[in-house]
Amino acid sequence: MPGFELFSDLERKEVNDVLDNGVLMRYGFDGMRKGHWKAKELEAELATTFQTNHVQLVSSGTAAVSVALASAGVGAGDEVIMPTFTFVASFEAIMMLGAIPILVDIDDTLTLDPKAVEAAITPKTKAVMVVQMCGSMGDMDALQNICNAHNLLFIEDACQAIGGTYNDKPLGSIADLGCFSFDFVKTITCGEGGAVVTNNKDYYSNADHYSDHGHDHVGNDRGAETHPFLGYNFRISELHAAVGLAQVRRLPEFIEIQKKNYTILRNALARVPGVTFRTVPKGGEESYAFLNFFLPDLESAQKVIEAFKVNGVDACWNYYQNNWHYIKEWHHLKDLKSLMPISKEVKEGLEYLQTKTFEQSDKYIARNISCLIKLSWTEDEVIARADKMARIIKETI
Ligand SMILES: Cc1ncc(COP(=O)(O)O)c(C=O)c1O
Repeated sequence: MPGFELFSDLERKEVNDVLDNGVLMRYGFDGMRKGHWKAKELEAELATTFQTNHVQLVSSGTAAVSVALASAGVGAGDEVIMPTFTFVASFEAIMMLGAIPILVDIDDTLTLDPKAVEAAITPKTKAVMVVQMCGSMGDMDALQNICNAHNLLFIEDACQAIGGTYNDKPLGSIADLGCFSFDFVKTITCGEGGAVVTNNKDYYSNADHYSDHGHDHVGNDRGAETHPFLGYNFRISELHAAVGLAQVRRLPEFIEIQKKNYTILRNALARVPGVTFRTVPKGGEESYAFLNFFLPDLESAQKVIEAFKVNGVDACWNYYQNNWHYIKEWHHLKDLKSLMPISKEVKEGLEYLQTKTFEQSDKYIARNISCLIKLSWTEDEVIARADKMARIIKETI
């Protein structure tokens, strides 16, 4: 991760196909295309890669979450349970529908703690969204059982875990609906883009229409299409899809490189006293996009991050005071800083954030360091980096 590190003639060829016929839009213009339907082709490739019946490409991972929820009927006043450790997109996508994000603690998997999920369920809860953070996953069986017992929709945000599996199933394909991002820094990238994947025909059909102004996509005269319901524009362009098409075909190669680099780093850190690793649920295999490890406390994690920076070890983070990924610094959410009025339901629904504390999440995020695994490192570079990281941690804690 990220896939852009290994851009090649494969991506260039797909993009040039689009430029040669001049159709940048994924729908219509059948005569001009000379047979090129990059978005459709990418959807078919993704369906094979993620072993799901249906894939709807959209404009971003954030759009994928909104479209997935909307496609299953989640909207105004509904509560969606999500983790405290994720990307801001999770609550943005929920609130865009007028729904209410209910944040709950993570456990040592670094995503939803099933006990915290169970405790947060109310009559208004409609969905549980697990976010497969930093290349790994939540306890999918436990979360699925809770959703089954309470008749809740189960959503899987696999934006950061492309290529990981759980009981041999691709992450993103396990819950009722899965969401992917192919933004510029993801394991496979379109530049900007995302996908909703599902085995549910109705959700798929809803996602297909909703992400294109409610168009029914019947026939081949776009102007004559009807609108069974309201929608918006979350379309991907052919140019973006073309890049993704070349990238998805390279996913096995990318995952193999990630795994090799991750393993060298992990083996070196495993020998350092005081270092422990996140729990990967039984049956799970990470995507190896990140290596996450715990140090004894916040102070040692912060000191190590500083020492990494000074010594040129880039792309490692302690998320405790991070503006993007952890509840602690999401003041704009807690203070409801919005350009436009927010509904009474959402305002009231978010009042809990004024008083609720998340000690259990703090405990894990404070001690965690998350390091990006790059695709472009040579083996010598990874070995040197591993030695350096191990030495710095030993000297610092
Ligand atoms: C976990 C997670 N969900 C959703 C998104 C949103 O994806 P996008 O940037 O494509 O909108 C991201 C992006 O980083 C993410 O990390």
